[in-house]
Amino acid sequence: MSIWRVQGGYPLEGSLTIQGAKNAVLPVLAAAILTGCETELTNVPALRDVEASLEILRQLGCVVQRQGGTVAIDSRNVTGCRIPRELTGQMRSSIVFLGAILARCGQARIAMPGGCELGPRPVDLHLAAMEALGAEVRVEQGEIVCRAPGLTGGTVHLALPSVGATENAMIAACAARGETILTGAAKEPEIVELQGFLRVLGADVEGAGTSVIKIRGMRPVRHALWRVMPDRIVGATMLCACACAGGDLELRGLDPAHVGSVAEELAAMGAQLDAGTRRLRIRCGGRLRGGRTIVTEPYPGFPTDAQPLMMAASLKAAGRTTFVENIFDHRYRQAAHFAAMGADIRLDGRRAVVTGVERLRGARVEAEDLRGGAALIIAGLGAEGETEILDRGHVARGYEGFDRVLSALGGHIKIDPARQE
Ligand code: EPZ
Repeated sequence: MSIWRVQGGYPLEGSLTIQGAKNAVLPVLAAAILTGCETELTNVPALRDVEASLEILRQLGCVVQRQGGTVAIDSRNVTGCRIPRELTGQMRSSIVFLGAILARCGQARIAMPGGCELGPRPVDLHLAAMEALGAEVRVEQGEIVCRAPGLTGGTVHLALPSVGATENAMIAACAARGETILTGAAKEPEIVELQGFLRVLGADVEGAGTSVIKIRGMRPVRHALWRVMPDRIVGATMLCACACAGGDLELRGLDPAHVGSVAEELAAMGAQLDAGTRRLRIRCGGRLRGGRTIVTEPYPGFPTDAQPLMMAASLKAAGRTTFVENIFDHRYRQAAHFAAMGADIRLDGRRAVVTGVERLRGARVEAEDLRGGAALIIAGLGAEGETEILDRGHVARGYEGFDRVLSALGGHIKIDPARQE
């Protein structure tokens, strides 16, 4: 547990290269066990969720080495097919290993990822996709148990464009006999990245980025090299941080199209955005304007992960900003903490209405989930005085050295180990 201490009133100035993407590297780490090969990944971010995934790979029998942003995985001797509760407890998204373990081992046993800060995290679409590929699936004593001596290609339809279920189906289908047509697939950039990595592994995959993905098996390779894409949600976080603190930031490495919906909303609120090739500049001075309705949707709509961050940016914007959270059931947990800082937010089911206030005051608040925690930190940049954010390890799951990044840009922020109360 730690306490973030943020002093408001200092604008952010300068440029930064955006870290590797958490939500791109996690499915790639899972897919690395599909065949017995040596994989080298670069631009891997230093995150708790990545460390948890590397531990899962080691428990499955892989040899894993990390040197800075480079991770080497030797998956020639995968001996295990089980992820115990103590590891799924550390990282809910360990479900993304299901398809890869089933494809490699012919069976998989993974503790159910329980509900989390965002609400229930059902896995019905993941399990239905495995069944559609010929697996026997059952849940016993809180564990998902899958068996598939051989997977068979076919049509897999996802009733919802689930990112994780799309990733599991793509990975498992690489080991299936014949062609798999995946319909209703998610279109997130991380899905396109996974397709690119699967191709490097020798898979025949096409269509990622659309709702129909075709997989026709794979011709395994012995060595695979892959660079992790920049994290678009960290990019969105920095754009919203500049909106909260004011200043002039240049983000490097990021594809501006991947944060298009967020940049569009900030520009409509009065921020100045200039996009170039793999770079995006934002300038914010003076009070932003509200008046928008921000609706979270699957990509390319406004990303649910950026909703808490955009809410932070709207707290002092003149007028009303309305949010509609369509993806998760409990993703407004940061609102009560914003209110403790003087924000005016009314919650009504999936809607949240923010009426901009002239000023926010530093307060003692708590991070209840990953993006909510980041939102409280950036809101503190625009508050008067010091904001203390109690954090039980949420922020480090998704942000690499967030205190160092913000300090290097002029933010006054530090992390203290929390007194054990
Ligand atoms: C991924 O989660 C991301 N995580 C999430 O980012 C992101 O918020 C989410 O996609 C939506 O974009 C990773 O990539 C590791 P979903 P995932 O399956 O795959 C429902 C962050 O902060 N659903 O697309 O778990 C589900 O309840 C995290 O980085 C089912 O009903 O999300 C939700 O309402 C948070 N049944 C909706 O679909 C299922 O079997 C979208 O979930 C699966 C999902």
